[in-house]
Amino acid sequence: MQTSQQWVNYFEDNLQKKRINWQQSATVTKKELAPILNSLQAWQLGESSDGKNLLKASSSYAERIEDPFYIKAVKLFIKEEQKHGNNLGMYLDMIEQPRIKNDWGDSLFRKVRYLNNSMEWWTLAVISVECTAQIFYQSLKDATQCKLLKEICDDILIDEIPHIQFQQERLSVIFQSKNMFARKMSFHFYKYFFLATSIVVWMAHRKLFKAGGNDFRKYFKKMKFKCAKTIGKLKYLAEEKYVLQPS
Ligand SMILES: [Fe+2]
Ligand SMILES: [Fe+2]
Repeated sequence: MQTSQQWVNYFEDNLQKKRINWQQSATVTKKELAPILNSLQAWQLGESSDGKNLLKASSSYAERIEDPFYIKAVKLFIKEEQKHGNNLGMYLDMIEQPRIKNDWGDSLFRKVRYLNNSMEWWTLAVISVECTAQIFYQSLKDATQCKLLKEICDDILIDEIPHIQFQQERLSVIFQSKNMFARKMSFHFYKYFFLATSIVVWMAHRKLFKAGGNDFRKYFKKMKFKCAKTIGKLKYLAEEKYVLQPS
């Protein structure tokens, strides 16, 4: 587990890395674009979120646990997501496709986010969506021959691994602050929430997932594996023999 200060250092360093060659042109074909465009536009919008509500929840949480570096780390995390949104937006501009202002999936996610000021909910929601993002961007990459678009996807895929670790570590800290009964209940709730989110994302973006070579069975198998690697890691903390350790 890394400290918030270490996460700040990581994000600051990673934001300096330029992995995309913007000198090359966008070569996505009409045929490739047909099943992916709507999803590309929707994720461009989602990644561009100002993160206002996440920041609000993080600020009160960080105050409570007296960790000012945590807010800084979350701010940098949001900045990295906005970098993804910006890159996807630049790509849409290059292929002369509009950036959208509204999407039902994004609105739904924003509403759920708006409903809560809880760090636990936020962390869980972000982990679930970030795991779908890994399959999403791999599918997008596999659905095109455009080198530039592939590089944009690679850059995001590289960033997403630490994003999930960052959130998973936080969920683990929050989980450890609960009593044993609450842990057992929460563990099951997290799992079902994660899998339900996977299904909603599949429904919304199945054309793109399919264009990238995933049918539902394949996709869901990958999501179940990701669930085990994130939420599943908390399981031992819900067992009686576990002794609470300070975080
Ligand atoms: Fe992202
Ligand atoms: Fe992310």
